[in-house]
Amino acid sequence: MFICPISYIFTAFALCYNTVSGEVVKELKNYGNTRIDHVSYRIVNGNDADIKDYPFAALIFFTPASKLIGGATIIAPLWTVTAADIGTTIEKGNIPLNLFTIRSNSSYQDELYSEHSIAKIIIHKAFSMESHDYNIAMIKVNNPFNGRYEKPIALAEKDYKYTPNTTVYVIGWGRTEKGELSKVLKYGRVTIVDSYSCRSYWRLNETTITYRMVCAFGAGTDPCTGDVGSALLQSDKLIGIALFWRTPCGDLVFPTVYTKVSEFHSWILETMQTD
Ligand SMILES: *[C@@H]1O[C@H](CO)[C@@H](O)[C@H](O)[C@H]1NC(C)=O
Ligand SMILES: *[C@@H]1O[C@H](CO)[C@@H](O)[C@H](O)[C@H]1NC(C)=O
Ligand SMILES: *[C@@H]1O[C@H](CO)[C@@H](O)[C@H](O)[C@H]1NC(C)=O
Repeated sequence: MFICPISYIFTAFALCYNTVSGEVVKELKNYGNTRIDHVSYRIVNGNDADIKDYPFAALIFFTPASKLIGGATIIAPLWTVTAADIGTTIEKGNIPLNLFTIRSNSSYQDELYSEHSIAKIIIHKAFSMESHDYNIAMIKVNNPFNGRYEKPIALAEKDYKYTPNTTVYVIGWGRTEKGELSKVLKYGRVTIVDSYSCRSYWRLNETTITYRMVCAFGAGTDPCTGDVGSALLQSDKLIGIALFWRTPCGDLVFPTVYTKVSEFHSWILETMQTD
């Protein structure tokens, strides 16, 4: 039987998994304009970043297709945090975990990285694919992050204050304004948007912004395909996880939506203790 997880359907082909032989095959077929926005591939209009400045940055890679699936952030020697959209993409496809790896310790997607196999993925039990709510997942790796440029970052505390109009940074290896995945890590400077205005914009798209979300706007600087799961940073802390945006990326009106990490501070600590 072939499984073609929706997230691996690109414009012109799909990646399907043969459950008997374990083979991953490319199915060529015209999928029209199918765009999978939350497993999409850019920081648009950002700048090159150096892993020395962002040693907690990691990415999730699908080896058979040599494809970036999304971003992740190192938060402990064996743990990364990402979006549940990404965790679900991996689990729903029923593709063996050993076909995915976490790459870190490098500014580059394809060079100098250290590779970590995945031990388990824990998706928040309250996560809903329809509402995007409780959109957080943790990935445990088998070999610890102990390289020169792989270090955990602190998490926003429970009472972290998300102050509208303050500067925050989003990072990732996703698609850039040139339309391709970025070889080098990028950062974009964006601004926190108050939840009232964020809600009003997204209501126009019939999308509810919940208390577990925080919004930021970059006037053209934004995450894009491949950046889902990537970090939103402020004061050397992980404060958000990139989730979704209005497409095409870099919208000049709609703010981008992130998981509000402060809401999950205890959940993250408990998960690391029990798993
Ligand atoms: C990490 O990156 C540095 C610099 O490229 C390299 O010297 C080192 O061997 C890499 N791996 C580890 C495990 O530190
Ligand atoms: C934030 O910025 C917007 C747009 O520049 C401005 O209208 C608003 O008054 C600012 N809010 C605060 C709290 O500074
Ligand atoms: C915006 O609305 C369209 C149409 O209802 C929907 O397909 C799309 O998923 C929505 N975008 C997000 C990010 O929720």
